[in-house]
Amino acid sequence: MVDNAGRKIEYLRVSITDRCNLRCVYCMPKDGIELIKHDEILTFEELYRIIKASSNLGISKIRITGGEPLARKGIIEFIRNIKNIEGIEEVSLTTNGILLEEYIDELLKAGLDRINVSIDSLNEELYNKITRNKGLDKVLRGIKIALDKGIKRVKINTVIVKEINNGEIMDFVELVEKIPVDVRFIELMPIGEGKKYTQVSNDEIKKLILKNRKLIPFSNVKGSGPANYFKTESSKGSIGFISPISHEFCNQCNRVRVTPEGFLKLCLHWNDGVDLKKHLRNKVSDEQLNNIIYKAVKQKPYRHEFKSQNKNSDCRNMSQIGG
Ligand code: GTP
Ligand code: 5AD
Ligand code: SF4
Repeated sequence: MVDNAGRKIEYLRVSITDRCNLRCVYCMPKDGIELIKHDEILTFEELYRIIKASSNLGISKIRITGGEPLARKGIIEFIRNIKNIEGIEEVSLTTNGILLEEYIDELLKAGLDRINVSIDSLNEELYNKITRNKGLDKVLRGIKIALDKGIKRVKINTVIVKEINNGEIMDFVELVEKIPVDVRFIELMPIGEGKKYTQVSNDEIKKLILKNRKLIPFSNVKGSGPANYFKTESSKGSIGFISPISHEFCNQCNRVRVTPEGFLKLCLHWNDGVDLKKHLRNKVSDEQLNNIIYKAVKQKPYRHEFKSQNKNSDCRNMSQIGG
């Protein structure tokens, strides 16, 4: 599919739940959020139909997100089923990793290609403070098992928040020098609870790293995401920067999203999109579903306007949108 801005849309992010077993401070309020009622969340059969229709239209990459996707029962079979859809070349998962060691075997057997794991601190005390929970040791064990079992790639997503983990940057650089993972620094976006914290721009992060290491541009990282990658002289993995605020990449955006309640969301920032659940539950035909998705994707907004939000901005937390 090509949208009205000429961008090729080949990547669908599917959020299968708004539930999460952590409460990261910039992503969720302390007492959680009002959850979507179970019968308002799309069933795996409904999600399968959307993915099938999307693959007919040229979507070849699927990323499963949440909330925490591993918290939803049935995910293994779902992955196995969507891996078998013709045209789907890659299925990946974004997870906080708490349940990874429990599920990694089955995930790999089901055909999962890659995982991205969110870790904002390698210091247990700080990790607990950010997530308002605990489990860093479990997450790191899960990653180790995934690597030992030969997963193609593990990426670590790290959001640096000025008030909390600004002192952790070099720890993550050292991590990619120890193990073959890619650490990506994601600029905090003013979404939901994220608005309450101070963003650290990736230029600042890069400057700090450059005081300690040489950064060598590196492009050979699998994935269709928006990061720019570098290696250090001794790194086993790489360091990536996802900079939606300081270096907007909307003109290269290749993705749309489905939220847990079945809204086809065209851009992370805006409310634009179409309620696919309504159509699915009104017994839309396969052909009609294709047309609805095709027409909506054409209308994808050109770019975000995080800096000047208006009434069409999505004010929810990332856990409700899928990241
Ligand atoms: P790869 O295919 O592995 O490169 O994945 P990815 O980086 O697309 O996926 P992941 O879920 O790991 O994304 C990490 C974070 O990057 C998301 O949670 C967002 O915060 C941010 N991000 C990803 N895609 C977009 C996008 O299109 N726009 C913006 N503004 N941020 C994005
Ligand atoms: N800005 C940037 N990234 C965010 N995430 C959650 N909320 C925000 C935000 N406001 C990240 C998490 C996780 C990914 C799915 O989204 O840290 O890595
Ligand atoms: Fe794409 Fe919207 Fe993200 Fe820009 S903000 S890269 S248009 S999803």
